[in-house]
Amino acid sequence: MPRTLVTGGVGFIGYHVTRALLARGDEVVVLDDFSDAPYPRALKEANARDLAALGGRLEVVTGCVTDAAKVAALTAGASAVLHLAGLAGVRPSFADPVHYARINVDGTATVVEAAIQAKVPRLVIASSSSVYGNSTPLPAREEAPAIEPESPYAASKRGAELVALSLSRKAPSLALAALRFFTVYGPRQRPEMAITLFARAILAGRPITVFGDGSMKRDFTHVDDIVRGVLAAIDRAPAGFRAYNLGSGAPITLDRLVAALSSAAGREAITTRAAVPLGDVDATFADIGRAERELGFRPAVPLEEGLRTVVDWVKAHPT
Ligand SMILES: NC(=O)c1ccc[n+]([C@@H]2O[C@H](COP(=O)([O-])OP(=O)(O)OC[C@H]3O[C@@H](n4cnc5c(N)ncnc54)[C@H](O)[C@@H]3O)[C@@H](O)[C@H]2O)c1
Repeated sequence: MPRTLVTGGVGFIGYHVTRALLARGDEVVVLDDFSDAPYPRALKEANARDLAALGGRLEVVTGCVTDAAKVAALTAGASAVLHLAGLAGVRPSFADPVHYARINVDGTATVVEAAIQAKVPRLVIASSSSVYGNSTPLPAREEAPAIEPESPYAASKRGAELVALSLSRKAPSLALAALRFFTVYGPRQRPEMAITLFARAILAGRPITVFGDGSMKRDFTHVDDIVRGVLAAIDRAPAGFRAYNLGSGAPITLDRLVAALSSAAGREAITTRAAVPLGDVDATFADIGRAERELGFRPAVPLEEGLRTVVDWVKAHPT
């Protein structure tokens, strides 16, 4: 019976993937530190409760991914490891770069080393579209050097990938996929992220702040599509280190996002503008050809439909 260790399993993406793994009958062990950053631990506790209520074979362990002994103990005997735990978010990474480097780079090194020592055959780690920075030609391809990050967060994700790549040299049979997620949204999204933040404000009649002139582009990807991509990577990624873009491949401007979200919410957004924060890239745009060919990844949730899932979630969960 497959047993998967999911780090960060009570976070936004972790909740959805854990749910999908349980639904197909896998045993799941979640390791998460339930930290209050970058958003309140109460939301992670709610995710843990909702996962437990599904009645699958789930164990949730509280702990840090840099705790080598704990990670090694949980990794032993796993058929796959999915490493999602990390500090997300570009802007807060400027305030605490040392912590970002420690959790994202040291944490990844700890998990990869444990997986190799335990001879786990399949390992998937969460990376980010931010590794491409502003200098990568778009649509971004995995072969791009990605060596000009715009934020400590982006640098930590690229650093984590490179540590994983280097460690994979000593375990050539290990399938090690680094998934570069492109702005993931959906129910339970991190509350500080644009779509959920905007949806709450629009529904409450509060103004939203759009950075720049609204022409910034993002490749928004629904979490249901991300879950399909993650499961495919767990099941199908080849031996060796391989990076994959998981995006929609259809970027839109922030102004278009706000219009589509207003329409999904049935209420016009009140918009104010502010300068683009340090670290935000001009555009993200995934070339998803590799994920399509090698993982069978094909995003299926249209933006309008996806935004409705967020509006419905926010309406059902007022804060
Ligand atoms: N959501 C996105 O759009 C997006 C885009 C690119 C990359 N990512 C990456 O995907 C992963 C999941 O992102 P998310 O949006 O679900 O974020 P999230 O913050 O909701 O989930 C991360 C989880 O990791 C846990 N965690 C943090 N530090 C930990 C530590 N030291 N030890 C154990 N657990 C720890 C958190 O408590 C949280 O539950 C992250 O690695 C993130 O960097 C997310």
